[in-house]
Amino acid sequence: MSKVLIIGAGGVGRVVAYKCAQHRDVFGEIMLASRTKKKCDAIADAIHKAYGGRKIKTAKIDADNVDQTVALIRKFQPDLVINVALPYQDLPLMDACLETGVNYMDTANYEPKEVAKFEYSWQWAYQERYQKKGILALLGCGFDPGVTSVYTAYAKKHYFDELHYLDIVDANAGSHGKAFATNFNPEINIREVTQRGKYWQNGQWVETEPHEIWKDINYPEIGPKRSYLIYHEELESLVKNFPTLKRARFWMTFSEQYLTHLRVIQNIGMAGIEPIRYKGVDIVPLQFLKAVLPAPEELGENYTGFTSIGCRIKGLKGGKEQSYYVWNNCSHQDAYRETGTQGVSYTTGVPAMIGARMILEGKWNGKGVFNVEEFNPDPFMERLNLDGLPWHEKLGLDLEMD
Ligand SMILES: NC(=O)c1ccc[n+]([C@@H]2O[C@H](COP(=O)([O-])OP(=O)(O)OC[C@H]3O[C@@H](n4cnc5c(N)ncnc54)[C@H](OP(=O)(O)O)[C@@H]3O)[C@@H](O)[C@H]2O)c1
Repeated sequence: MSKVLIIGAGGVGRVVAYKCAQHRDVFGEIMLASRTKKKCDAIADAIHKAYGGRKIKTAKIDADNVDQTVALIRKFQPDLVINVALPYQDLPLMDACLETGVNYMDTANYEPKEVAKFEYSWQWAYQERYQKKGILALLGCGFDPGVTSVYTAYAKKHYFDELHYLDIVDANAGSHGKAFATNFNPEINIREVTQRGKYWQNGQWVETEPHEIWKDINYPEIGPKRSYLIYHEELESLVKNFPTLKRARFWMTFSEQYLTHLRVIQNIGMAGIEPIRYKGVDIVPLQFLKAVLPAPEELGENYTGFTSIGCRIKGLKGGKEQSYYVWNNCSHQDAYRETGTQGVSYTTGVPAMIGARMILEGKWNGKGVFNVEEFNPDPFMERLNLDGLPWHEKLGLDLEMD
């Protein structure tokens, strides 16, 4: 039985804590630590009620402060740190794990607070230090990145000799009943979706204006939804790890209402990340906006509908063209009934728990820094079916990939 330290008590942290608590045989001791301890305590109380008195420990931590994390790790002595705070905390947490010799994992790649830009370079730079220390860092083990990366590895392993075209398609066909809200941390979400678009084609990155390219994509059991080409972090590691890919794109659905609000937010300067001085205090507009928007973990109760995320792949098998689609549809209401939060936090938290399980059971092991597609996808795919995110696959469909 192992010990895990979960950092971050938001929507995703809640799901990770719930799902780890369900598997006492693997996760013998759990500590949930975050900036606001009362949020950790509320989750611990809910788990205590839901799972027959299962106790998890809680602690207050500022994960930007390496010394604080090192002290907490030394006290609790976890086998693994699961980072589900914000991408800003990736590097200080990787530093703390390096200092204490503890394995690390996260669900989103590092981005600096002062530049709205995310890429793996900062975390891949830890490769040699993690190898020398004999520990493992697993990067991007949520749904996308995470499950989408495992889906791609699974497709390659079982259905293709060469992957040529990859479209990751991500629909949220749910409704939370609010005029405007984001499904995960608003600051990170708005930074992500207001960026310029980018996709991989014939060995290079092609940039677009934000939301310049769109099309209506049919999602299983949902139907057609307007989907926009955006840049998403797993594209960077997937084109590196599957170099036969000629094109790799990421599509996400946004409603007209969401995009209108987003345009207004940008036009009036509320998406800004530069501090402005207001009544003698420095305020970052986007952080202030986050404070007034609904918290993602509070969206669950009235959320209806499904998310649908999958990979559409074309390539070659035995010299012949092959097409393959693998996906999961997740019900917001089912997610809420099980964990008290909505489907986007659920689809991120479940794979994070499964990734942790893969490491703790030694099914995924190694020394250094890894993206999830570098490991054997089979045991992870098996767990998805058992842990609440069952997947479906079809060969030979029209994949709408023009
Ligand atoms: N791969 C995927 O599929 C995927 C999908 C969605 C989200 N994500 C990632 O999942 C992570 C969590 O998302 P979320 O929706 O749960 O966000 P959230 O609701 O905003 O939760 C973030 C949590 O981290 C805590 N935190 C922030 N800064 C901290 C610090 N310096 N020290 C300690 N704790 C700190 C926050 O504390 P307070 O409560 O005090 O604010 C909050 O509890 C993000 O990195 C997001 O990018 C990944």
